[in-house]
Amino acid sequence: MSARVLVVFGTRPEAIKMAPVIRCLREHRAGFDVVVGVTAQHREMLDQVLDLFGITPDHDLGIMRHGQTLDQILARAVTGLSELVRDVMPDVLLVQGDTATTLAGALAGFYEHIPVGHVEAGLRSDDKYRPFPEEVNRRLTTHVASLHFAPTQTAADRLAEEGVVPEDIWVTGNTVVDALLETAGMPFEFTDQALRSVLSSPGRVVTLTAHRRENWGEPMRRICRAALEVLRGFEDVHVVFPVHRNPVVRRDVESVLGGHERAHLVEPLEYLPFVKLLQSSTLVMSDSGGIQEEAPSLDLPVLCLRDTTERPEAIETGAVRLVGTDEQVIAGAVAELLTDSESYRRMAAATNPFGDGRAATRIADVLAERW
Ligand code: UD1
Ligand code: UDP
Repeated sequence: MSARVLVVFGTRPEAIKMAPVIRCLREHRAGFDVVVGVTAQHREMLDQVLDLFGITPDHDLGIMRHGQTLDQILARAVTGLSELVRDVMPDVLLVQGDTATTLAGALAGFYEHIPVGHVEAGLRSDDKYRPFPEEVNRRLTTHVASLHFAPTQTAADRLAEEGVVPEDIWVTGNTVVDALLETAGMPFEFTDQALRSVLSSPGRVVTLTAHRRENWGEPMRRICRAALEVLRGFEDVHVVFPVHRNPVVRRDVESVLGGHERAHLVEPLEYLPFVKLLQSSTLVMSDSGGIQEEAPSLDLPVLCLRDTTERPEAIETGAVRLVGTDEQVIAGAVAELLTDSESYRRMAAATNPFGDGRAATRIADVLAERW
């Protein structure tokens, strides 16, 4: 009998990072019975990814509500996923990352004595409020999980320091690199007129994304004011900001950047066009976790809009620089990259410490060995 794997996720980044795992499990010679269950903690941003990778969930809990609070997401997800686990009775349940869905999926598996595999295990910022609530979600998930797929040796070492036995830890690389390399090779033409004309203009493009809870409010407005300062200082620069669908984020972004002719506030892009946007950008300013892991594979410098990081590997290689949320510091760092070719070259030339594009295969092989 083939092993049944229940793959659980709910948000955009989890979907991007689980897509290669689902594909490798489905194609594996072990003949896994793969069941995909989504909480749909995100709706439109999740569906964009499902469409691109041709994934049709077997179960969709549809839990997203506007204005949802952390406790509400967790409660709805853990209740729905527990029912799902009882229904599917998998041999193993996989979760990814550090969202509310990740923690809920891990608990739902644990409550039914199903072993849980954690993809992207061992990331730590050592500050439980940054990123909030993700640092605590992933720490708790570590305690619940039985198999730990660490993206790097640093992450694996952290798990071992916290008492996870080495036989339960595998260094696989991050599956986001698998997704990125596959997507970066796909052809794509922008149909959106505004983006087409920005990308074909001789000016430079700075991509900006920000959504983290700890950046809501004044930090978000400072980030946007820093972008305005860059636009004022560099007349050839366009800032393209695909704005997260969260209304809290949208309000602040639009209040500062709305109306500037070279600040292009667009809807969240599907993954393929977003990767093409990155490929056409000079640099990226972002508080996203996934973008820090992707950009080094595109030789794209990342200015990380956070004070701490759970991804020190990219700081060490030089691909990512932490700039926090101070307006002057951010604007100064962007100006340096736009004017100092040696600083730019150093960041762009740094290698990607997060993987080689074969992480999902390694995860599927481990599961095949165990089951
Ligand atoms: C969530 C994750 C975060 C992850 C991020 C990726 C938690 C606690 N947070 O944060 O770790 O980095 O996703 O983007 O799990 N919305 C829509 N449509 C969508 C998606 C979101 O309208 O497709 C709006 C809804 O109003 C929703 C709000 O955004 O209530 C916030 O979504 P939520 O999942 O609670 O938080 P994120 O900030 O997206
Ligand atoms: N992304 C996307 N469209 C966008 C912005 C980002 O597809 O408009 C992708 C990005 O390439 C990365 C992922 O979404 O793979 C990151 O998601 P997000 O920033 O929402 O979450 P985080 O990584 O911070 O958890």
